[in-house]
Amino acid sequence: MKTFEKLIRRAKFISEALPYIMKFYDKVIVIKYGGAAMIDPELKQRLLNDVVLLKFVGMHPIIVHGGGPEINKRLKKRKIEYKFIHGLRVTTRQVMEVVEKVLGKKVNQEIVSLIKKNGGRAKGFSGKKGKVIKAHKTWIKNSNGNYHDLGFTGQVAGIRYRFLMKWMKKGYIPVIAPIGIGPRGKTYNINADSAAASIAEHLKADKLILITDVRGVLDKDGELISEIDTDHINRLIKKKTISGGMIPKVKCGIHALQKGVDQVHIVNGQIPHVVLLELFTDTGVGTMVVR
Ligand SMILES: Nc1ncnc2c1ncn2[C@@H]1O[C@H](COP(=O)(O)OP(=O)(O)OP(=O)(O)O)[C@@H](O)[C@H]1O
Ligand SMILES: [Mg+2]
Repeated sequence: MKTFEKLIRRAKFISEALPYIMKFYDKVIVIKYGGAAMIDPELKQRLLNDVVLLKFVGMHPIIVHGGGPEINKRLKKRKIEYKFIHGLRVTTRQVMEVVEKVLGKKVNQEIVSLIKKNGGRAKGFSGKKGKVIKAHKTWIKNSNGNYHDLGFTGQVAGIRYRFLMKWMKKGYIPVIAPIGIGPRGKTYNINADSAAASIAEHLKADKLILITDVRGVLDKDGELISEIDTDHINRLIKKKTISGGMIPKVKCGIHALQKGVDQVHIVNGQIPHVVLLELFTDTGVGTMVVR
């Protein structure tokens, strides 16, 4: 009897998902999978299984991944120094070599093969492979008006979105490493949040889900802020409550909304089935970025 009740509960849950499936049917969902949330292999496997599920119920998920912790580990091992300015990595030639190996090869291939293992079709893209992200060099202006040279750190100049859409319509889940290709074939390291936001803009995504290793944007007491707008973001950046890797996340979120992406959410990848919770329930689980 107990098992029977359990089965009915499961059937009820599936049936309750119908309105959400209808809402997002044929819609583009961009999922930025942060390196910080990739540590646990079981969670990783579960998350990619859920992404395959989204595809099979008629949505168009697309993954843009990070890989920060893995890159740092490799840099430390090779005794290569590295630093961040305003949450963006300074990419020297040596750092770029590691970025290409870790992001462009290891992490990208791992995600592709996990999707395949879960019965989905995936296609990996990175830098020269597919030339999905066109890029140029980034300069950052500091408070006294000077510019920081971030080396091979780039920003998105364009996205081959029609090419991506073609793959998606053929039943594939694109898996994109945030490595862009610049003039004369130079490759650039791009912050994965901004790559994901640009892809979401160009594909007119309904949702951009930024998966990270914290519950969302936290206030100075460590409490979750469930909804945050531009003014609030600027205040918290000024007070340094929002710092490091959270800065590009919130900034890109606002930019994506201004460019027509419907919803932006920052969620915790350590919550099992976080993507399903975000898409198939009314109550969001992390921070919703609003204009
Ligand atoms: N106000 C804040 N609320 C939440 N996290 C914050 C805040 N300010 C800074 N952070 C930091 O931002 C981090 C998330 O950004 P981070 O770039 O490290 O990870 P990611 O973007 O998920 O991964 P990757 O960079 O590899 O793609 C958190 O782990 C936290 O340390
Ligand atoms: Mg980051």
